Amino acid sequence: MTDRLIIFDTTLRDGEQSPGASMTKDEKIRIARQLERLRVDVIEAGFAASSPGDFDAIRAIAETIKSSTVCSLARVSEKDIRAAGEAIRPAAKGRIHTFIATSPIHMEKKLRMHPDQVVEAAVQGVKMAREYTDDVEFSAEDAIRSDLDFLVRIFGEVIKAGAKTINVPDTVGYSVPGVIGEWFRQLIARTPGSDRVVWSAHCHNDLGMAVANSLSAVLNGARQVECTINGLGERAGNASLEEIVMAVKVRQDVFKCDTQIDTTQIVASSRLVSQITGYPVQPNKAVVGANAFAHESGIHQDGVLKHRETYEIMRAQDVGWSANKISLGKLSGRNAFKQRLTDLGIAFDSEQELNEAFSRFKDLADRKSEIFDEDLQALVSGESLESAQERYRFLSLSQRSETGERPQARVVFSVQGKEIAAQGQGNGPVDATVNAIESQVGSGSELLLFSVNAITTGTQSQGEVTMRLSRAGRIVNGVGADPDIVVASAKAYLNALNKLESRAEKLNPQLV
Ligand code: KIV
Ligand code: ZN
Repeated sequence: MTDRLIIFDTTLRDGEQSPGASMTKDEKIRIARQLERLRVDVIEAGFAASSPGDFDAIRAIAETIKSSTVCSLARVSEKDIRAAGEAIRPAAKGRIHTFIATSPIHMEKKLRMHPDQVVEAAVQGVKMAREYTDDVEFSAEDAIRSDLDFLVRIFGEVIKAGAKTINVPDTVGYSVPGVIGEWFRQLIARTPGSDRVVWSAHCHNDLGMAVANSLSAVLNGARQVECTINGLGERAGNASLEEIVMAVKVRQDVFKCDTQIDTTQIVASSRLVSQITGYPVQPNKAVVGANAFAHESGIHQDGVLKHRETYEIMRAQDVGWSANKISLGKLSGRNAFKQRLTDLGIAFDSEQELNEAFSRFKDLADRKSEIFDEDLQALVSGESLESAQERYRFLSLSQRSETGERPQARVVFSVQGKEIAAQGQGNGPVDATVNAIESQVGSGSELLLFSVNAITTGTQSQGEVTMRLSRAGRIVNGVGADPDIVVASAKAYLNALNKLESRAEKLNPQLV
């Protein structure tokens, strides 16, 4: 008999707390749809009280998603819980995830509350959340640095008040596998009513042990893991969904539980999150890194060719690697284009959106003879990035660079529909391009990160560029893709400027 392990995805909430990873409502809906295709059990869609934009995004996701549970985070305050309850109201299955800190340092220095007051606030919060849904989760923030006896007490009380899931977060990524495993064992053994709830692990990766700690919790009775695609999350990130899912699948002999995840959707989910947030995936990342199934050394290649299992413990296609299949070409028609996108799980809201995407595809196919699935995904992401409300829109670029000469660029872009031609010089063609744009825009922003990734293999691959900008304490990531990496850079820079203009401030739930 294998138990079910519930996969609670928090890419859209804890993942979004990564610098610059904040997403628009449309981007969140696209990721939520992909998470539903991946068959995650719970989608934590955001923190409703953090901003009107987050409230709207959670509500829209609650209206859209049918098979996964849609969840909003809430502190135990009335304002937060009412916002979360209203945001998830349209969901087929809705959950409120309410939390309060329980470690001495958080209670004393951040909350300035006595432990008895914390227990009382938690109980009231859970009771109020139950007015909206039976599916209430309670988290003890910074549980791992809390007193174990106090956790037993507060968890017992919130179970009595109606919590159905008890989450034990390692908020600061402090635990190690042996210790967290023992904590779960003791908490489950000692908490009154523990057999009536699902126990959940939520681990951060500050010491690189988020996945190992989550799995140790599973070995000791946790039946929900909170995780994110690509391990996205603030600081060193959260436990990575793909690693947890594949570990329990490949080592069922050890974990004796399994998930309902459609693992063939893992790579598509990873790419989508990376494209939307501008967080590239490192090549040697387990499961979803470009090298995860590449066998460089001669001995390994020989072994794999003779018998795959000599060096491979899982199959690339089982996690959704399509082996760079050529998908479409210059002569492919609109129906073939639409069909391939449907196969990739990409849907359009209107004929007009489809037509616009098709015309971008034709433009790309004129410049790139082989179009891979990854190109199509980037193209459609670009579509959603360049929405009609954008202030800045890329139009064209020419640039000149020659050994010994200072590179020059001319960028044509529109600002609220008005066309502008900008000239600039720089240390290299990308620098010249950014200088050209800035000569007209004068954004006052600081460039924190510039990274280029090849979307597929070979020199004719599209380059995917991320530009991270900061202005007045706000950080955003812009992303652009094109076979010409200077054009991709211009698109990424303008995309980041658009985000600086449009994205509203949000509260960080743990900092207030
Ligand atoms: O890390 C953490 O403690 C959290 C809680 C809000 C669950 O993200
Ligand atoms: Zn967290």
